[in-house]
Amino acid sequence: MTASYPNTRLRRTRASAWSRAMHRETVMTPADLIWPLFVTGGSGVEEPIASLPGVSRWSVDGIAARAKEAAALGIPCIALFPNTQPELRSDDGKEALNPDNLMCRAIKAVRDACGGDIGILTDVALDPYTTHGQDGLVDASGYVVNDDTVAVLVDQAVNQADAGADIIAPSDMMDGRVRAIRMALEMNGHPNVQIMAYSAKYASAFYGPFRDAVGSGGLLKGDKNSYQMDTANGDEAMREIALDIAEGADSVMVKPGLAYLDIIWRAKQQFGVPVFAYQVSGEYALIEAGAAAGVADRDALLMEKLLGFKRAGVSGVLTYHAPVAARLLGA
Ligand code: PBG
Repeated sequence: MTASYPNTRLRRTRASAWSRAMHRETVMTPADLIWPLFVTGGSGVEEPIASLPGVSRWSVDGIAARAKEAAALGIPCIALFPNTQPELRSDDGKEALNPDNLMCRAIKAVRDACGGDIGILTDVALDPYTTHGQDGLVDASGYVVNDDTVAVLVDQAVNQADAGADIIAPSDMMDGRVRAIRMALEMNGHPNVQIMAYSAKYASAFYGPFRDAVGSGGLLKGDKNSYQMDTANGDEAMREIALDIAEGADSVMVKPGLAYLDIIWRAKQQFGVPVFAYQVSGEYALIEAGAAAGVADRDALLMEKLLGFKRAGVSGVLTYHAPVAARLLGA
């Protein structure tokens, strides 16, 4: 018997549903969700993605419809990723700078359909546009060069902002790109376009289905270990985050999510800035596979994991389950 028993019975407040509701410390709402969407060419096209059961690539018109659906569900923001046609991919990824590329057309279609009712987050990195599947420019040895890549990413970011993107999200992990993008946005008439930096992005085994979805998986030569972070490192993530904040990021991201809750927690405690988690493609696929294998109920697994991010301190979660979660939250 502890000294405090029976003065303290923690089960007292758990004894009824109303009391559990009253004592719940963490609340999740649809406003905590960001929905990543894959864009493909054509019109009226929906292409299911085998490694992401329940997720499809949509042509631009379908993306606009998904954005309306998101707004109706109270999801405040969508994230766009293009599946660039193979013939438009090149060594230097220059299709990323085309003002009429898939990404820019999708941004405009969403804006036409939804006006200012939804935020549009766009990914800055070259992997959906390169023939080698790397996020930047490669030298003869296959090394992704930093400064020349940053120069292209800056133009890519301005191209997206010109098309109407609200949040630029560099996912490339080059050094110095946040400052370069921030300066270019200021100089090109986009002072209110935000930057959500993929600050702590790990060289993870959880990205496989995403690479299928944007068609870069089969193309990828080598790995991304020379720019994405070593999965063993936590202090280094804090350095990345500190730099990105100093360089002008409005918010930071930790990616993947579930295996990095300590990083989310530390980031929030140490910096007090908005922190977002990306529950990535492999995490989505594992939840679906686990449910399909009868391990547990899909909805319960999903909501427990999402709540974990909130408890760790996130302002929101990028998740392919966003519409499912919003409906489960009563939207
Ligand atoms: C690439 C990028 C990746 C993801 C988002 N942007 C994959 C990668 O780094 O290879 C992964 C997202 C996911 O797995 O859901 N710039």
